[in-house]
This record gives sequence, structure tokens and C-alpha cells, in this order.
Amino acid sequence: RLDVSGKLVLPGAIDVHVHFREPGYTHKEDWQTGSAAAAMGGTTTVFEMPNTNPPTRSAAELRAKQEAARKSHVDFGLYGLFAEDNLDELEGLIAAGANAFKCFMGNTFGNLPSPSTGAMLEGFEIISRHGLRISLHAEEATIMARRQERLAAAGRNAPLDHLLSRPAIVAVEAVGRAAALAEWTGARIHILHISSAAELRPLAEAKARGVDITGETCPCYLFLNSTDYARLGSVIRVNPPVREASDSAALWHALRNGAIDMIATDHAPHTPEEKAQAVIWRADCGFPGLETQMPLMLTAVAEGRLTIEDYVRLSAEAPACAFGLWPVKGRIAPGAHADIAVVDPRRRETIRAASLHSRGKVTPFEGREVTGVPIHTLVRGRFVQRDRRLVAETAGWGRQVTEIQRMPTPAPRNEALAIRALTASLRGAA
Ligand code: DOR
Ligand code: ZN
Ligand code: ZN
Repeated sequence: RLDVSGKLVLPGAIDVHVHFREPGYTHKEDWQTGSAAAAMGGTTTVFEMPNTNPPTRSAAELRAKQEAARKSHVDFGLYGLFAEDNLDELEGLIAAGANAFKCFMGNTFGNLPSPSTGAMLEGFEIISRHGLRISLHAEEATIMARRQERLAAAGRNAPLDHLLSRPAIVAVEAVGRAAALAEWTGARIHILHISSAAELRPLAEAKARGVDITGETCPCYLFLNSTDYARLGSVIRVNPPVREASDSAALWHALRNGAIDMIATDHAPHTPEEKAQAVIWRADCGFPGLETQMPLMLTAVAEGRLTIEDYVRLSAEAPACAFGLWPVKGRIAPGAHADIAVVDPRRRETIRAASLHSRGKVTPFEGREVTGVPIHTLVRGRFVQRDRRLVAETAGWGRQVTEIQRMPTPAPRNEALAIRALTASLRGAA
């Protein structure tokens, strides 16, 4: 029997954006350490990204990842890669059990090729037939990468350069382009790591047109802004970058009114050595987020910036709905999985990189005081974290969500499709 008086019993967080680095970069993270971080953070299901080495770009690579994931403490979905050169592999990835697809519209860690608009159209058509969601790193970054290389070569470090070298217009353009292709094909899409106020407009416009589009933001874009660059140096480097305080304010507003659907972490561990660089551009992008997400967000709840109902919607319900896990996960109700985070809303802790379970022991939130911590985590009724301790024997308890995932094939939802269907039926009749 568990005494939960004075505690909150929440659905475990569902994080649709994590990088666990195995195979290929296990000095940064592996499935055991990454999923341990999830268990400690109150996250009971993760969707893991394909920019490993090799990337998850075909059925054989997906099967290798399923093998690596066998030591997971928490349940998981696996992303297949959708790139310029693997359109012929998409059906195979789906047959092998990919739960969603990731498309890098801009270059990032792992150097995966961004698909052209033509290849995106083809991929959207293939994937939309199966209803699986396509998550997009929606940013064309070639120009920015060139500019950063010039800055790095010149040894220039100024934070303002960082921001100015990454204007939000590249994200606005990419969100708009992805939404147009989704509207045309009926594909379901998800916009990863929304970092700027500017991106909210194409997202809202696409929703208003009836595109099946969702969006996430991550704690770093909510709790950090351009004034933190000087203090944090290369640790703060993340792709897309942390922007201005006015952007953070717009993102908070969007979380409250539903313009942004969910929170994810973009858990992106790198070693302290890889992060500690004198010139910011030489540091790898990103940092682990799984163990700090819930404490940071619960602190925001304690401060009245968000209600606890908002938090449950953003961390569990919305991702469960968008990725086909509803109603089995993402709520507490009869018939649902007992995927639970028991939270002590008054417990105070100080975030310390050294005590993270992730192998990437670096965080821009080092030293931050938080109020509200997950003290137990249960996955399908079994403790994977108990009293702030990992239950080591549960490595291997995690299961892929393929069996419970239900993604109905979307109906054609736009004029273009309707016209095409009509033309086809007329042709058939004639
Ligand atoms: O900061 C980031 N890190 N952004 C990405 O898009 C990739 C990620 C990683 O894999 O390190
Ligand atoms: Zn990304
Ligand atoms: Zn990412």
C-alpha cells in the first residue's frame, strides 16, 4: 500500500522527443541510462529519434534499435527517419513497427540529409496512407550553418551573433511549407521544438485550415532567454537556439490557450567535454531534459503560471492523442495503463547535473531551485522509480507501444484531394 496523502497522482509524462544515442554514440547516452532518466523524471513513455549511427532509416536499422531498446525501463515508440534518400524504405520501416517519422528539414546532429520539397511530398503521401504522424525539425539551416562556421573560424562568440544568425524566418518558412504539404496529402504532422513567437502564426493558420498539425515546445525555450547566454556560455547551445524573453512569454501564453499542444524535452545528451567549448559554435547542440522537465513545469504550476490541469493536458493527454496512444495511456481512468507519476508538489530540490542519471551530465538549469518533484514512477503498474531511487531491476520492463497504437487512416481533408477523388470517380464512371 502506498500512502499518497498530500501528493498528486498524475498520468506519467509522454515525451515524443528524446535522443538516446544508441547505436553509435553510447558515450553520450544509451537505452539504459536514457530510460533511467525518464523513470526518474516521471516520464513513462518516450518516442526516440532516429539520428543515431547508423540512423534508423530502414527496417534492418529499426530492428537493431528494437534490440537496443530491450533494456528500457519505460515504454517507448521508435521514430523512423524520413529523408531524401530513403523513400523506398518507408513502407518497410512501417511494417517493422516504426511508430512515427522524423524529418529533418534542417541540418543538425548526425548530419542527416534534409529532403527536398519534392521528396517531402512523396514521403508525406506514403506515410499518410498509414496515418502515422510525421514530426518535423522545421528549419532550413544551411545559410545559418554557413554563418556559424564563419563565426567559429573567426573565434567570435557574442550571444547576439547567435540569435541574429538564426532568424526565426527560416522556421516560419519551414512550418508553412510542411503545413502546405500536409494539407495537400492529408498527412498528420507535428512541429518539434517551437522556439519563437513567429512560428505560432503559420501553426495557427494551418490549424484553422483543418490541417492535422500539432506543435510542441521544450523547457529551455520557456525558462531561458537571450539574457542567459553570457552566464551559461556554450552549455546553452541548442538547435533551434534559445531566443528572446518576448518569445518565451509568447510560448507560455500559447501553452495556456492551446495554440501549442504539448511539452517535450528534446532530451539531447552530450558529454561535459563536448559541451565545454570556449567558442560556443564548437559545442554540440542540446542537453538532457528528461529529469528536469517535470520539476521545472511543476514549479511553474506552483507559481501560478500554469494550472495542474494544463500540465496534464500538455505532458500526457495531448501527446497520447496525437500519437495514437489514447485512451490506453495519457489519462487516469478505468481501462487505462497504470502509467503514473506520483508527485510531491511541495518538495524542494536543487537541480544538479552531477546527480542526473543521464550520461550527459550537463544542464543549463544547474543550481536552479524547484518546487514539485516526481517521487515515484510506475509503468504499467510497476515501480520503475521509488522514493527518488531508480528500480534497477526494471531495465527491460519497457515495451514498444506498437500493439496499443491506433492511428486511423485520415480522411482526405482538403479541396485538392477532393478534386482528385472526384476526377478519379468520374474517370471510373466514364
Ligand atoms: O539541440 C539539438 N540536439 N537539436 C537537434 O535538432 C538535435 C539534437 C541532438 O540530437 O543532439
Ligand atoms: Zn531538432
Ligand atoms: Zn531533437
